[in-house]
Amino acid sequence: MESLDQLVQEALEEFRRVKDPDSLERAKARYLGRAGILTGLLKTLGRLPPEERPVAGARINQAKQRLEEALARTREALAWRTLEERLASEALDVSLPGRGQGVGGLHPVTRTLARIEALFASIGFEIASGPEIETDYYNFTALNIPEGHPARAMHDTFYVEGGLLLRTHTSPIQIRYMERHTPPVKIIAPGKVYRVDSDATHSPMFHQVEGLWIDRHITFADLKGVVADFLARFFERDTLRIRFRPSFFPFTEPSAEIDMSFGEGWLELGGCGMVHPNVLKFVDIDAERYQGFAFGLGVERLAMLRYGVNDIRAFFENDMRFLKQFN
Ligand code: DAH
Repeated sequence: MESLDQLVQEALEEFRRVKDPDSLERAKARYLGRAGILTGLLKTLGRLPPEERPVAGARINQAKQRLEEALARTREALAWRTLEERLASEALDVSLPGRGQGVGGLHPVTRTLARIEALFASIGFEIASGPEIETDYYNFTALNIPEGHPARAMHDTFYVEGGLLLRTHTSPIQIRYMERHTPPVKIIAPGKVYRVDSDATHSPMFHQVEGLWIDRHITFADLKGVVADFLARFFERDTLRIRFRPSFFPFTEPSAEIDMSFGEGWLELGGCGMVHPNVLKFVDIDAERYQGFAFGLGVERLAMLRYGVNDIRAFFENDMRFLKQFN
């Protein structure tokens, strides 16, 4: 009994030193557990003379209660400390600005295509499309480029399995459209085309927009008017000069290349001409009754000139610093 107070002091001291919940539970077991020191003391009560038992029992129970209370306080303090440590280590600075949601934008080529389509739609052209994987017939033969024709060598063609190829121009869409429609035919056909070629002004994949207008009395003057009007509206320039330079394409006769000038020098934009009678024959259109023009323009070329981009590869490298400028 003399040592009871000392025992309590020792226990309290130990509880105070404890740093984590596990050590606390171990200290508790040492004093208050079934094999604990205080529990042991209670068991010895029976050996005391009966008149001393109540006092001794009460003192031991008091001691037990003090320790239980100290335990509860320590538990709570430890729980707080754990929480505070966690809060400190997971600290959020709520005053920081948020990351924000980036706003997407249209790719400059997509933008250019939409602009081209809107301008032609406004003068009555329908929008047509065709497959990017083509047959030799649509890409070449039906366009008056028979096997062995030197023009085939000028198209550096990607061939794929099964005798198919990646279309080298949008001209095959002319054939596909005229097979299914009778004149008057008045379409543009934008799309991706592929050629084995890559440098600052050539990309293995690029875009063209094909134009085709077939009716009873379509002339080269209509071709000139439509193209010149389109370019003036596309570039929004009064100073724009346009030139039709004689050239050759198997699917047109006569043929020309479309050149444009902002001031000095001429820039090539694409080809054009009056649709060759052989092409009309392939799609069963009577060349005695109908005639018309076709043209093919390079979409990236138009975008480069409009936006002042001097390397076509910039369009396809997905560098956000480049693309963001068009948002
Ligand atoms: N298909 C030609 C090319 O990719 C461009 C072209 C020239 C299209 C004349 C035409 C045209 O429709 O009439 O090189």
